[in-house]
Amino acid sequence: MKEHAPVLGVIGGSGLYQMSSLTDVEQVEVETPFGKPSSPVVIGTLEGKRVAFVARHGIGHVYSPSEVNYRANIYALKMLGVKQVISISACGSLREDYAPGHIVIPDQIFDFTHKRARSFFGDGLVAHVGVADPVCKDLSRQVYEAVLQAGGTAHLGGTLITIEGPRFSTRAESNAYRSWGMSIIGMTASPEVFLAREAEMCYAIMAHVTDYDVWHVSEAPVTVEMVIRTLLQNTQIAQQAVQALMPHVPVACQSGCQHALADALITAKDRIPQ
Ligand code: ADE
Repeated sequence: MKEHAPVLGVIGGSGLYQMSSLTDVEQVEVETPFGKPSSPVVIGTLEGKRVAFVARHGIGHVYSPSEVNYRANIYALKMLGVKQVISISACGSLREDYAPGHIVIPDQIFDFTHKRARSFFGDGLVAHVGVADPVCKDLSRQVYEAVLQAGGTAHLGGTLITIEGPRFSTRAESNAYRSWGMSIIGMTASPEVFLAREAEMCYAIMAHVTDYDVWHVSEAPVTVEMVIRTLLQNTQIAQQAVQALMPHVPVACQSGCQHALADALITAKDRIPQ
């Protein structure tokens, strides 16, 4: 598989890879030390390059944000030789100027989840990985350009808070997140972004604003119907953006994502004979 390793991994909805421009499609069943990924990995050719898709919530949306096997999803892509990953997800907006239908490529993450397996390490292997800048700056910029090229309204930058869910926020919570300076809110970026860093992969987020969460005085509070409606409206832009990204991947990474463990592993260093 690695001779023809996909140059890009995409974690998002299963609708994403249903596009006529994706050819030579194969489905790969992957088993990882952390179990199976949420779905078989769909690999196809887009703009002459191989790209691998994982349906984050499974086929038929069967895994809640807390149930997604994030470790298996990232590990499976790593096993297939993927070095750069983009996440495509829905989010609520915590700012007036990030409106429903817009796309945000955040540069910061606030992890407010509390019951997810969040590291590949442990069990005798200790690593403290740096995540001061949790997403790949270089890949993020290319995703931003690709969204613009696809005709989307894009914002480069902002902080994404990941809540545990599955419920949406209360007004008090939403207002608190706004007062903390958060820009958008979702349920899946963490721990995915951190696992990608542990796996030494570049990672960027294309977050589709589907609603104004629950803080807005003149907009209705978020509902599932709102989220699905806006996501469906944006599917084509997401597909076109992935296609527009392909000529630019692999993106030259100046941010060190692919060497993230160089100064992070404690145990392994002791194990290597000097
Ligand atoms: N995903 C889409 N909209 C959301 C919201 N308002 N809160 C959390 N996750 C979301």
